[in-house]
Amino acid sequence: MNDFSHYLATCQERINAHLNQHVQTSEPRLERLFSAIRYSVTHGGKRIRPMLVYASCEALRGPVERADIAAASVEAIHAYSLIHDDLPAMDDDDLRRGHPTCHIAYDEATAILAGDALQALAFQWLTQANALQPDTRLHMIDLLARAAGPTGMVGGQAIDLGAVGEKLDLATLENMHRHKTGALIRASVQLGALASEQVTDEQLTALGDYADCIGLAFQVQDDIIDIESETSVLGKQQGADVARDKPTYPALLGLDGARTLADSLRRQAIEALQPFGDDALRLRQLADFIVQRQF
Ligand code: IPE
Ligand code: IPE
Ligand code: MG
Ligand code: MG
Ligand code: MG
Repeated sequence: MNDFSHYLATCQERINAHLNQHVQTSEPRLERLFSAIRYSVTHGGKRIRPMLVYASCEALRGPVERADIAAASVEAIHAYSLIHDDLPAMDDDDLRRGHPTCHIAYDEATAILAGDALQALAFQWLTQANALQPDTRLHMIDLLARAAGPTGMVGGQAIDLGAVGEKLDLATLENMHRHKTGALIRASVQLGALASEQVTDEQLTALGDYADCIGLAFQVQDDIIDIESETSVLGKQQGADVARDKPTYPALLGLDGARTLADSLRRQAIEALQPFGDDALRLRQLADFIVQRQF
């Protein structure tokens, strides 16, 4: 295993252990709900957002333990967003990460509640992060709330639902993705930096620039994978977005154009990390990973 694969595996183990530990109940009547929550947070998932939290904390020489709660919180928001995204009222998907979606494995009401619970848990964990200064926690809660809510992910989902079947231009597509997926990716990077408790405003801005580029690159690559994969490990049919008439980068730019854009965003992201020198090694590698991934 090369050094970066080993790093990814270590981060994944770390976040999986942390999440598992925090989604248990001793109350028998809540077992089904918690089982649905565990099902949704522990069945696969690349853990890109937690890795960004860890790597960003590391770029500021913060101890990794201080990043655990922020990493878990952002993944909890992500997991909730996917549970709700798959519901019949939204994308109506039966498969996620190659497994039945939460509402298929359990039932719709339980899936809605599992998503609601994960959202609340994310903020509860941050308020209880005793290793961090109260000001840091408050800053993190504010940042994550804005990234998750109507000015971020939820707003992006609303734009996405309103855009099905429409021919979006590049700027409108970009705006949708900046909200839908970009906001949580940006929050991940900034939360990791805050967890170090030694980030300056300038560093936070530079990391925000890096995150904006990889957030968009992530989506461009997601669209490319959707077209290239035969039946992707995400458990979807080839070209699911195209079949649904969803606006995508390859549709607007062609496959080669989309690949060129992804690589140019990767390079811009890496440029934004210049002030961090060698400390940003993992963030650089994550930028490469996001654009080179095939799943
Ligand atoms: C999938 O996100 C949904 C989008 C935001 C496009 P990821 O590709 O990060 O999903 P997992 O967690 O690894 O399954
Ligand atoms: C999911 O977006 C993004 C969020 C839940 C915020 P999509 O609907 O495009 O992603 P997939 O295809 O279900 O993973
Ligand atoms: Mg969707
Ligand atoms: Mg979907
Ligand atoms: Mg997609």
